[in-house]
Amino acid sequence: MTRAPFSLQDPPGEEDLMALESLAVAVAVEAGTLITDQRPVDLGVAATKSSDTDVVTVMDRAAETLIRQRLHQARPDDAVLGEEEGGGGPAKSGITWVVDPIDGTVNYLYDLPDYAVSIAAAVGDPSTPGTWVPVAGAVVSPRRGEVYRARRGGGSYLVAGDRRIRLGGSGAADIAHALVGTGFGYAVQRRAWQGDIVRAVLPRVRDIRRMGSAAIDLCQVASGRFDAFWEVGLNPWDLAAGWLICTEAGIVAGGPQAGEDPQTALTLMAAPGIAVPFADLVRSSIRAAAPLPPES
Ligand code: IPD
Ligand code: CA
Repeated sequence: MTRAPFSLQDPPGEEDLMALESLAVAVAVEAGTLITDQRPVDLGVAATKSSDTDVVTVMDRAAETLIRQRLHQARPDDAVLGEEEGGGGPAKSGITWVVDPIDGTVNYLYDLPDYAVSIAAAVGDPSTPGTWVPVAGAVVSPRRGEVYRARRGGGSYLVAGDRRIRLGGSGAADIAHALVGTGFGYAVQRRAWQGDIVRAVLPRVRDIRRMGSAAIDLCQVASGRFDAFWEVGLNPWDLAAGWLICTEAGIVAGGPQAGEDPQTALTLMAAPGIAVPFADLVRSSIRAAAPLPPES
């Protein structure tokens, strides 16, 4: 007898979670090796997406193709939602893989090291904010030699060479001393609006970092290298695996809520000791800014 599809109400148990996590890690490591070892020396922009600065390279596409092949071979009844090819549910199994083949594509284009492969298995509908959760996943940063991994209820870990470190966030207790990550979208008006929020937050914290990969940013919060992170308008593939890696590390998450427009949904992650004042600071800074103009 075949099993009923997994769902938010009936998520995978420990044995399935372990298998999903192992698959996410194996496929993300393989894709990480591909993009790093086969990065063309003359890499250019293959296409642009939402704006002139939102680029795709041949390797984003090649990595997503490889990831889709590997996931399909291993689990043909699952669906895949990927940054380059879209897709998504419904899946016969109830599992949708949420895939960013290269998060930090602009870093990759410029040969800066902070890019990552992000792969998560989710239940629910990852294209609708607030109606899904990641249950297992991995973020692989090939140039840092770091693998971040998590499964629901199993904690999150950083594996680097022969080190395996359980992640627990930072002990930050004072927002004025918090190192905070953020990121920017690609649309011009959105960027101007995001600059206004940064201007309000920056004088109130230790400093702000913009690494260029939301997946890596989220893993920095999980590992305690950042105390907090926020960004408005992240896509599910930017945040799926990093979100789980954060929550399994005990980070307080304010994820996109049900019914929110993905373009304006706020992702917040913070060490428990500063979660409330950090959320207040970011939300009040957003309220004080002029409304985000609608994007065509
Ligand atoms: C982007 C990065 C960036 C974030 C943007 C994302 P991409 O993803 O994660 O840090 O600020 O919002 O779109 O385009 O490099 O896959
Ligand atoms: Ca991305």
